[in-house]
Amino acid sequence: MDYALTPPETLRGTLRVPSDRSITVRAALLAGIAEGVSRIREPLDSDDTRAALQCMADLGVQIAPLSSPCDPPGLRIPGLGLRGLRASSRPLDCRSSGTTMRLLAGFLAGQQFNSTLDGSAQLRRRPMRRVTGPLRAMGARIEDADGHAPLSIHGLCGPLRGIAYDMPIASAQVKSALLLAGLYADGPVTICEPAPTRDHTERMLRAAGVEVIAQADAGGRATITLLPPSQSLHPLDVLVPADFSSAAFFLVAATIVPGAHVRLVEVGLNPTRTGLLDALQAMGAQITIANRRDEGGEPIGDLEVRSAGLAAVEIGGQLAARMIDEFPVFAVAATQAAGVTVVRDAEELRVKESNRLEGFIGELRKLGARIEATADGFVVEGPSPLRGAVVDGLGDHRVAMALGIAGLVAEGTTTILGADCVAKTYPMFFRDLELLRAP
Ligand code: S3P
Repeated sequence: MDYALTPPETLRGTLRVPSDRSITVRAALLAGIAEGVSRIREPLDSDDTRAALQCMADLGVQIAPLSSPCDPPGLRIPGLGLRGLRASSRPLDCRSSGTTMRLLAGFLAGQQFNSTLDGSAQLRRRPMRRVTGPLRAMGARIEDADGHAPLSIHGLCGPLRGIAYDMPIASAQVKSALLLAGLYADGPVTICEPAPTRDHTERMLRAAGVEVIAQADAGGRATITLLPPSQSLHPLDVLVPADFSSAAFFLVAATIVPGAHVRLVEVGLNPTRTGLLDALQAMGAQITIANRRDEGGEPIGDLEVRSAGLAAVEIGGQLAARMIDEFPVFAVAATQAAGVTVVRDAEELRVKESNRLEGFIGELRKLGARIEATADGFVVEGPSPLRGAVVDGLGDHRVAMALGIAGLVAEGTTTILGADCVAKTYPMFFRDLELLRAP
């Protein structure tokens, strides 16, 4: 599907963007190995989360909708315990979900049965040695195809070994895979991260009764230790907040469209995810947070955004890790900011759903942006007027959505080819964008 849009007069209204993808996938996986019935309320329903749920169903978990009419939409997942999963009769299809594949690899590495993990052509292009390498060091018998999926995991007779792992890249997926493998290890798993990454797995494991200790050193490096559980995991009761990474598109939209005023409610505000908020505020954005509260161990709140003029900033280090998924839409904001915006320490953007340093930047240039890729990031000169053009979503949900936001301030018509790839995390994105269009 292609999608064509023109700039609105302005944007107004209140949205509850779809629920958090990272939290939904983790809850689906952990619920399956807990002992007892977990409830996941308001899970995200998207291509990625459907992939995770289908993989768990293939491993024997019987997932059903929550039946009570008083409950918000949700899932009832009767867990099978740490040792209750059964071998899937077919390869587990992670579709395009890197989170599903890498996290599943972690806990399947400790099982007594064999598994094969596979996915779409896009997922097969993404690097997997970053998980298979340290899992092998823990004693897992796991093969990859030259560093990529499909992954073949052979069942073990005994436990995995504990590990102390100095992670060369900041990756929450690698960290989570090793922590989940640690549930099946004979000793502690200790991971040192170069920069703190999203900690939803740690929070959820603690809620399930597992001892996970996090420490930060003076330089901001985080060390996480998981002690192998001596008892089964408690079932989870999770209310999934709106996804900050989906709200991010509207934070930028309402900032750069003149006269806009938008409220985004029930948004997850885990500090390991909200780097974009800090970056936009440093640039002069008018964003306020109200109704801060805690939902099941995750901070949430409502965000109110009014349009504002922006000034360029420099981003790097820990802040880059805290906004790793937001760089496509951040680049759009930077095109409207006065001065030269510089992004460093973001080389991971090359191995996301698309190469977000080369491909995405090429598409943004078609709209007139003055942006160049560098070895580990990009440089944007602003403010630059954008003009509508035909651009390609590159099969990457965040690229397609970011181009949609650029189209709001591009003169004339912007047509996004392959816009349906937004279904990975935000199936109704373009409908919601239209809902905010105001005279
Ligand atoms: C995710 C971690 C990040 C992020 C991805 C989701 C997760 O990936 O980019 O969209 O749910 O753990 P990396 O671990 O590769 O940085």
